[in-house]
Amino acid sequence: MAQFLISLPALERNARMLQEVAQAAGAHMLVALKAFSTTAGLGVLKPYAAGCCASGLYEARLGARHLGGHVAVYSPAYREAELAELLEFAHHIDFNSIPQWQRWRGLCLAHPRVQSGQLQLGLRINPCFSTGHTALYDPCVPGSRLGIPADQLQGADLTGISGLHFHTLCEQGAQELIDTFRAFEKQFGSLLASPQIRYLNLGGGHWITKPDYDRPALINLLREIREMYHVEVYLEPGEAWAIHTGVLRARVLDIFESLGYQHAILDVSASAHMPDVLEMPYRPEVYALHPAGTGTPAVQLPGEHYAPAAHPGEKAHTYRLGAPTCLAGDVIGDFSFDAPLQVDDTVILDDMSHYTIVKTTHFNGVPHPDIAVLHADGSITTAKRFSYADFESRLG
Ligand SMILES: Cc1ncc(COP(=O)(O)O)c(C=O)c1O
Repeated sequence: MAQFLISLPALERNARMLQEVAQAAGAHMLVALKAFSTTAGLGVLKPYAAGCCASGLYEARLGARHLGGHVAVYSPAYREAELAELLEFAHHIDFNSIPQWQRWRGLCLAHPRVQSGQLQLGLRINPCFSTGHTALYDPCVPGSRLGIPADQLQGADLTGISGLHFHTLCEQGAQELIDTFRAFEKQFGSLLASPQIRYLNLGGGHWITKPDYDRPALINLLREIREMYHVEVYLEPGEAWAIHTGVLRARVLDIFESLGYQHAILDVSASAHMPDVLEMPYRPEVYALHPAGTGTPAVQLPGEHYAPAAHPGEKAHTYRLGAPTCLAGDVIGDFSFDAPLQVDDTVILDDMSHYTIVKTTHFNGVPHPDIAVLHADGSITTAKRFSYADFESRLG
């Protein structure tokens, strides 16, 4: 069977580094469950994390159960029943638009946990300041639905709001955050400085656990924000917790030549298991087992040696790695290897903990739609309703 293999020591290595930054800066480091929500791994992160960043009710429940601590929720839109449950246990709920805030304000402000300050309410801001290069991952692209731009705050009734949140980065360094914060400060600095605002959430996309990330610069910025604006500062990286902690081990099911290509069919699918390979798109790092291999995938097993695959034609044996599905485009890419691949060989797809496993299951914890059937007499019956238990049971 194909296998996602996650290294718990590697998760702990990242977690330790993130906790050190949080402690040095006096900030709160949350785990964005949208990037990594394997319950067996959350147990390792728990002692190091301040809590979770959840994209809705399912992730919030998961975080409360498996990480504990602070539960910060942000969703582009809430359903009433979802919000009613979140009001019972979340610590921050952030709203994405002024209409959402206006719609749910009364319900929230009437709740005893809001009145007692156990639960604080915030707005996601769009500073309209792009630092990324991939539009799919850039919440500041023109026409973005994510966050409230400065002009829409004018005249809005913000009574009851005590937090601001922005998330604009993706796999980026401290300098991009500093530049974004300066742009945010120019537009929203006076609101941030007002005594009403008690927390600032700087979102995710901080690649803090990469070796060349400028951690001292991040720590200085976080301290400056705390001292200048007297707010609690939260960060909610996802990828940084799980980067370089997992691989997907696949098996070769068939090898054949067709229409000028050597094809290797694997027992994994880009469409079903690694949709980012097609959506982003990107080319994963691939390894084959080889006695003389010197490669270093994220998870290495005793006695195994790994030879990195290269671009087509660079090494002696080139294959198109394809999926056992019917989708013509379900291809992981063209890779060349030192030795010919054989049926039953293991092929390793690197760095598959973050965002890949969650996309194999329920991305963002968004509940699956019901599956219903329409009968000849016009009646409809629900064939399957998916529950929180379905969500959690597939996370591992
Ligand atoms: C609101 C929000 N917070 C946090 C994150 C986590 O980002 P990353 O995994 O890049 O650190 C995301 C990712 O999309 C996000 O949308």
